[in-house]
Amino acid sequence: MKVQKSRIRENVSISHKIYRLTTDFEDQIKPGQFFMLKTLDNAFLLPRPISVNDADENTVTFLYRTEGAGTTKISSLREGDELQLFGPLGNGFDTEKLNGKIAVVGGGIGIAPLLYLVKSLGKRADAYLGFRDKDNLYTLDEFQKHTEKTLVVTEDGSMGEKGFVTDYVDYSGYDFVVTCGPEVMMNKIMKNCMENNVKCYVSLERRMACGMGVCLGCTVQTKNGNKRACKDGPVFSMEELL
Ligand SMILES: Cc1cc2nc3c(=O)[nH]c(=O)nc-3n(C[C@H](O)[C@H](O)[C@H](O)COP(=O)(O)OP(=O)(O)OC[C@H]3O[C@@H](n4cnc5c(N)ncnc54)[C@H](O)[C@@H]3O)c2cc1C
Ligand code: FES
Repeated sequence: MKVQKSRIRENVSISHKIYRLTTDFEDQIKPGQFFMLKTLDNAFLLPRPISVNDADENTVTFLYRTEGAGTTKISSLREGDELQLFGPLGNGFDTEKLNGKIAVVGGGIGIAPLLYLVKSLGKRADAYLGFRDKDNLYTLDEFQKHTEKTLVVTEDGSMGEKGFVTDYVDYSGYDFVVTCGPEVMMNKIMKNCMENNVKCYVSLERRMACGMGVCLGCTVQTKNGNKRACKDGPVFSMEELL
């Protein structure tokens, strides 16, 4: 983990408020890890945590939604510009533990860390992706390329199945469910996994200031006491969480 300047190769809008940013990075990254991103002009003080969406030996790719000042400023950067990267951070998914048949379930921008995971599992995972509607849908083709089965669910039924993605997973058909997305979605998934006796990992989001376990601003309550989402997480097993 280090702080470094990195040259941007691509930073493009791929859907409403959604951007894909690819930038130089040449170290090992685990699926589920994240970086703290900052522009070099100090337009915003604290770096913003963004998950690794994909990586190869020379680059790291992020998928992000513009929410406020930080992500909007990042979206204004262009190919050839530099930004500050701090990472990779966090525990990431333990792919050695993820045996057997896996379902990854993502909601909205929560699908971001699941693509690199699916790629590293070599077609052992099915993807269940929930979006609001067909106009807010992205990177579907990437998931299709790396899974035997990718199911899309939109709330209004304008693409794929209609309703909530949580209702379309055959929980008992999997050894593990891995999820990232809105908390209400992840809570429903954990409840269904508990009822079906399936192991579940969740990637949690907290506001983060330091990203390295120092400020204690990202506390998560677990059965083993308070943990830091940035350092002990962001991936937690369902059994650990209160
Ligand atoms: C480990 C981790 C990984 C993340 N990965 C991604 C990713 O891959 N793609 C992506 O688009 N976003 C991701 N996020 C969320 C992203 O960090 C925030 O959207 C971003 O920091 C907002 O900064 P901003 O300056 O644009 O908005 P701000 O002006 O700081 O905030 C705008 C709005 O977003 C809310 N917000 C800010 N940060 C968070 C947060 N961490 N969780 C929930 N709500 C928040 C604020 O309450 C506010 O309503 C991740 C967050 C964490 C903790
Ligand atoms: S963000 Fe500072 S301890 Fe997690």
